[in-house]
Amino acid sequence: MSFQILKNQSLKPYNTFGLDESCAFFATITTLDELSEALRWANEGRHPVLILGGGSNLLLTRRFEGLVVKIANSGKEVISQTGEEIILKVAAGENWHSFVLFTLANYWYGLENLSLIPGNVGAAPMQNIGAYGAEARQSILEVMYWDRDADELKSLSGEECRFGYRESIFKHELKEKAVIWSVMFRLSLIPNIKADYGDIRKLLNDWGISDPAPEDVSRAVIQIRQSKLPDPAELGNAGSFFKNPVVEKAVYESVKKNYPQVPHYELDEAHVKIPAGWLIETAGWKGKDLGTHGVHKKQALVLVNYGNAKGNEILALSKAIQADVKEKFGIDLQAEVNVI
Ligand code: EPU
Repeated sequence: MSFQILKNQSLKPYNTFGLDESCAFFATITTLDELSEALRWANEGRHPVLILGGGSNLLLTRRFEGLVVKIANSGKEVISQTGEEIILKVAAGENWHSFVLFTLANYWYGLENLSLIPGNVGAAPMQNIGAYGAEARQSILEVMYWDRDADELKSLSGEECRFGYRESIFKHELKEKAVIWSVMFRLSLIPNIKADYGDIRKLLNDWGISDPAPEDVSRAVIQIRQSKLPDPAELGNAGSFFKNPVVEKAVYESVKKNYPQVPHYELDEAHVKIPAGWLIETAGWKGKDLGTHGVHKKQALVLVNYGNAKGNEILALSKAIQADVKEKFGIDLQAEVNVI
């Protein structure tokens, strides 16, 4: 084999929660041949497989009795360019934020609102990462993935990926079947500023910038994220633990009766999205400190590991929050992270 299969590895360095769970086997993969070989090896030995990207959306609650495959391919390639747009193919193993900064350094625009999202490029289509009024799907042209059953590389157009809010085909029909290998992005050479979400405009005004460039939007997003979201290098976390729930208008109206100020986004005639962070804070969980773990002080949507938490403790906390929000508001919170 051109790569090693390590035994009994700690996964602590590979998950942003910083949970110290181990796995039976671990392989770092940089080529498609290696990937194919590793999957075949696991198949023959009947070892379950866990595909790992940046580990930023993962809650490990146990030792993984199988093969963990760390996708570590690299490369960014210009496929074509016109006076208005550029098409780039990027390896799944590239760090997302470094890639965003690389695009901005080249004056290629479209990803600036997605600055500083933890994780790797391969996760962008997996859950259609989104923040500050933008979603990855707006820039994804095509996704190349390894079909584990057919043992070959296939591709899907952006439309075929069936992107939704933190959703894609890779979390459903292709779950456990596909390994995202590279992503084709279509970026613009012409700025298209989206600064009207959240505090971006306010911060730009504070900086005296009335006509922002994409680089300014990126700087603002970075500053806002740093002020609200804990840096996984300092405090273990996986970003938003829950999705923002989409509820029927009637449910929203009943919450509004007791809380006239409830923040919300109208989605269509019948549905409203309510920020999970608000529900969790209003239920009294924000800043909850359970010793080893808790709820972040500045953003109730983020669960944190203060040092020596076990994944099961964090899972139990998430369930207690879900039960309480259900009881107080009649709303189901769905976890955004992948629980193993
Ligand atoms: N809110 C509270 N209390 C809190 C947190 C939020 O009341 O503790 C209220 C805020 O006041 C605001 C609303 O909830 O009215 C929305 O808050 P915020 O702008 O912070 O965004 P969010 O809806 O909580 C989503 C994404 C984040 C993304 C931000 C910014 C989800 C699940 N999360 O959070 O994504 O960075 O918007 O666009 O959609 C992630 O997925 O890991 C993530 C961090």
